[in-house]
Amino acid sequence: MSKKTYNIALLPGDGTGPEVLREGIKVLDAAAAKYNFTINYTSYDLGGERYLKTGETLPDSVIEEVRKTDSIFLGAIGHPDVKPGILEVGILLKMRFALDQYINLRPVKLYPGVETPLKDKGPADIDFVVVRENTGGIYTGLGGAVQVGTPHEIATQVMVYSRPVVERCIRYAYEYTRKRNKRKQLTLVHKMNVLTWAGDLWHRVFSEMGNEQYPDIKQDYNHVDACNMWFVKSPEFYDVIVTENLFGDIITDLGAMIQGGLGIAAGGNINPEGVSMFEPMGGSAPKYTGKNVINPLAAICAGGMMLETLGENEAAKAIDEAVSNTLASGKIKNLAAGRMGMGTSEVGDLIALKI
Ligand code: IPM
Ligand code: MN
Repeated sequence: MSKKTYNIALLPGDGTGPEVLREGIKVLDAAAAKYNFTINYTSYDLGGERYLKTGETLPDSVIEEVRKTDSIFLGAIGHPDVKPGILEVGILLKMRFALDQYINLRPVKLYPGVETPLKDKGPADIDFVVVRENTGGIYTGLGGAVQVGTPHEIATQVMVYSRPVVERCIRYAYEYTRKRNKRKQLTLVHKMNVLTWAGDLWHRVFSEMGNEQYPDIKQDYNHVDACNMWFVKSPEFYDVIVTENLFGDIITDLGAMIQGGLGIAAGGNINPEGVSMFEPMGGSAPKYTGKNVINPLAAICAGGMMLETLGENEAAKAIDEAVSNTLASGKIKNLAAGRMGMGTSEVGDLIALKI
């Protein structure tokens, strides 16, 4: 049988993005060699530098090319000389919408040997996954402003959800909970006590679908504000969480902190029927650029998530175990940039070697 080949689009992006992506690729290549598949990479130059030079963010021609790939691997987007919002909306959100990446998958997992700010909590307590709806809600961009600059100025930004958009997200979350096969518990996070219409839609879809199609999954519900408290007080309570876009954006940053920080937090923008994009959650960290001090583990973990989504489950598991064992060994002193006790490329070497 001929070797399976994957075509991956690389978006190294800005700042430390290219450095962390390089280590992610190193580990992907090690996994490919061991598990007998091939990866072809095509790199696309997007980000702040290109925008400042040409005014382009994400050209349609690039969208059409990446649409034909198996997956996208992103470093970081963000440039100190570009006004906030331009690159985020023009590249990241545009890609999510164009490729209909309607799930944002964010594992919150404390690896052994990693310090969490939560007192008395360990790896057994912090191991859950957030399924964030990734294209709807307030991010849809419906709304507007009138009489701007006057004392009567009005601005709206609407939390829009259609039933099908809610359904496909909740279905993904139930399926994921079943496949994860841990506590088989799915927690819906919303704000039903105030957002009575939108919350009611989410909750009805959640319970109807759960009762009819997923009787093996325990249903649970948290208000989003309470969920924040529980992340800190009792994270062991969670298995899988499903939530709307903005709430998911907010709780996953807290999730990143309790798992040890942005150095280790990875995420996937997933279209289960199409092309997905995987990324470390940390930004472009301009002040660390080119210094070989940034932590590449989040990018390495994002690469693992990519392989899992492509169906290379064994290779994905090998990456996760290599990260876990390396961290447990205590060789990497700290997850923060400049405090790892080794350089960016040495961390990549260590993980690749373990594979
Ligand atoms: C994230 C980011 C993005 C979001 C920004 C950069 C547009 O915060 O991926 O969580 O809000 O979704
Ligand atoms: Mn965010």
